[in-house]
Amino acid sequence: MQMRPLRVFLLGVCVCAGLLAGLASTAVAEGNGLALTPPMGWNDWYSIYCGVNAQLVEQTAQEMVANGMKAAGYDYVNIDDCWMAGSRDASGNLVADPTRFPDGIKPVADYVHGLGLKLGIYEDAGTTTCAHFPGSFGREAQDAATFASWGVDYVKYDRCNIPYSEFPGESEQQVQQILYTRMSNALKATGRDIVFSMCNPDLGDDPWLWGAPISNLWRTTTDIQDNFGSMLGNFEGTVGLYRDAGPGAWNDPDLLQIGNGGSSLLEYTSEFSLWAEMSAPLIASTNLAGLTPAERAIYENSGVIAVDQDPLGQQGVPISSAHGLWVLTKKLSGGGRAVVLFNSTNTATTIATTATAAGLPGRHVYRLDNLWTREVSQTGGAISAFVPGHGVAMFTVTALAKRHAVALAPQTVLSLTAAAPQLGSGRSTTVYESFANNGVSEVKRVSLSLSAWPGWQIKRLGRARLPLLEGGQHFTVAYRVTAPAAGPPLAISLFTGAASYDPHRGRRTASAKLGETVASPVGSPLRTTDVTTHPASFGASGRALAISSRGVGVFNPPFGAPPTDSYAAIYEHAKARRSSVAQVTVTSDPAGGTSGGAGLIERGDMTAPKGSREAVALFISSNATIVMAWNGSGGAAVDQHFTVPSVTVRAPVALRLVRKRSHYTGYYSLDGGDTWQTVDTVTVAANASAGAQDVGVFHASGLPTWTTTARFRDFRIR
Ligand code: GLA
Repeated sequence: MQMRPLRVFLLGVCVCAGLLAGLASTAVAEGNGLALTPPMGWNDWYSIYCGVNAQLVEQTAQEMVANGMKAAGYDYVNIDDCWMAGSRDASGNLVADPTRFPDGIKPVADYVHGLGLKLGIYEDAGTTTCAHFPGSFGREAQDAATFASWGVDYVKYDRCNIPYSEFPGESEQQVQQILYTRMSNALKATGRDIVFSMCNPDLGDDPWLWGAPISNLWRTTTDIQDNFGSMLGNFEGTVGLYRDAGPGAWNDPDLLQIGNGGSSLLEYTSEFSLWAEMSAPLIASTNLAGLTPAERAIYENSGVIAVDQDPLGQQGVPISSAHGLWVLTKKLSGGGRAVVLFNSTNTATTIATTATAAGLPGRHVYRLDNLWTREVSQTGGAISAFVPGHGVAMFTVTALAKRHAVALAPQTVLSLTAAAPQLGSGRSTTVYESFANNGVSEVKRVSLSLSAWPGWQIKRLGRARLPLLEGGQHFTVAYRVTAPAAGPPLAISLFTGAASYDPHRGRRTASAKLGETVASPVGSPLRTTDVTTHPASFGASGRALAISSRGVGVFNPPFGAPPTDSYAAIYEHAKARRSSVAQVTVTSDPAGGTSGGAGLIERGDMTAPKGSREAVALFISSNATIVMAWNGSGGAAVDQHFTVPSVTVRAPVALRLVRKRSHYTGYYSLDGGDTWQTVDTVTVAANASAGAQDVGVFHASGLPTWTTTARFRDFRIR
């Protein structure tokens, strides 16, 4: 995987302030008149991968009608890779796999059309698809005609196995332009309305720079996974490309994961909001029949869908992103704006902007429609929300005559902040509870309170009631809070703030939750080191350890590239002697990126990862595989790795690293240490295998912008 360079976004932020007033879309659509708003629908890939078949497609189409998704605007039913037979027929025509699609594709298209929906299919610009079925290279016109004859309405066109060597002197991007243009023209020549979706998101492809004249959408980022880190990576890789999208030509950060079980409802809500704000295609890639009512409600949120489908087709623009707190604004056809406040960090916090910063005219009162809570309120200009970590608040904002404002309740925000976000056990800090009135009318009889989990002491430091709070004012109460004296290595406790008040008519309540990390300090003989760019947290309680950090990993593929060590570790100094055994059980292994992980590491000097040579690491990777990485060449970093094939694991997993001079054998156990499987025996270069090495546990979240916590127990060395 590669992450889209952040540079793309930064460029966007620098210029966006000046553009907000009347941002014009510069994208030129291909003019097939299709996808004038971002496509909506379903694609099988992430629900079943190569398991697609006619029955699934038809049942999903039925489900879309029955569950309300069709009515909500979802109309494409898209088949991804693996629908084909392994070879073409005698005339060179593509044929569907006879067991998956016994009657071919046409009857499936007819069935889908009969329900008022449309059918999409998958092909590839190369000689074979990514899953090695026949590609369209050299057969573009024939395949386009086949698709049209079947009644296909949408083609996703991939970039695997393109024979670049047949185009001497052309860059890969140029070859892609040639081949994607061929298919685009071939589809047009059929005379059928077929949406053309390019799937070529690899480093350097940059399809947003050249895709608009020939296609309706193009992938911006690598294949998404159902976890917050992956979603965040694809968001960050797309959010800066707002100038390249417009009606008929959209940035595609990949298929929606809502329903696949790897993220929380809050995270799925963020995904849906961010995709809509970015005018991204809303294509669900999950088993629709298995959606919970709450997941379905996300897919069917009409307010958020309307933002995505706004006819102006302007992708939302980032106004700010400092410290992972994002403010985005999207101009809507009625003159309003859709504002998303997205908290990509792990800690709840207030995110604030103003109506004028969002691009609305000044000197007004504004109506705020909260698209998730459905509350309607008025503000004098401030737009803010207390947003949980990984969560969003999403509003549409419209200017309002003052006389209309009085009919609405003022927007109020209850928020909590801790002076120190992390405490040692038994230590104290101050928590501030603040109630803001963003409206233009007063709020009466405000009363605030704070509670915490058992074991905490709370002392209020001022009055908790206020008879009257004017518009534009806030009321803050401070509390001295003291953490319980003893606990696990790193624990998150929740504070709950509660407010009651009279906004308008009747009494209302609000609540807010804030997590506070309590760490049991790491003491001798254990030491800590943090070679990431964002401060890590460490905790130890006996032989149970925890590390909360962000960082790319102990190595960053491709091997051979300069080392980009970024991880945090708890270790013992010079404890891995020439003959030694290190062991730990990883009890939580948060996934993310492709190079993150948690496990054991040995190196000459743990505090100098760029100076001392890395020796060996044995860990659970963010793909839930067991990986052993080692320094075979004697260079600065690990340059070899081995992944246990066909094994994916879930914590707890025990890891054991046995050293005999420069030979290391890795083992893992999935049954609490009763039975051990060998990972590999490797030989580390002599100069990377010091006499007595530092040895410890490490954690890397896999992404530089994402903090996760790994937990370990029974760390021992002998
Ligand atoms: C690539 C694409 C995915 C999916 C698979 C199918 O990885 O990026 O979206 O289509 O191929 O093989």
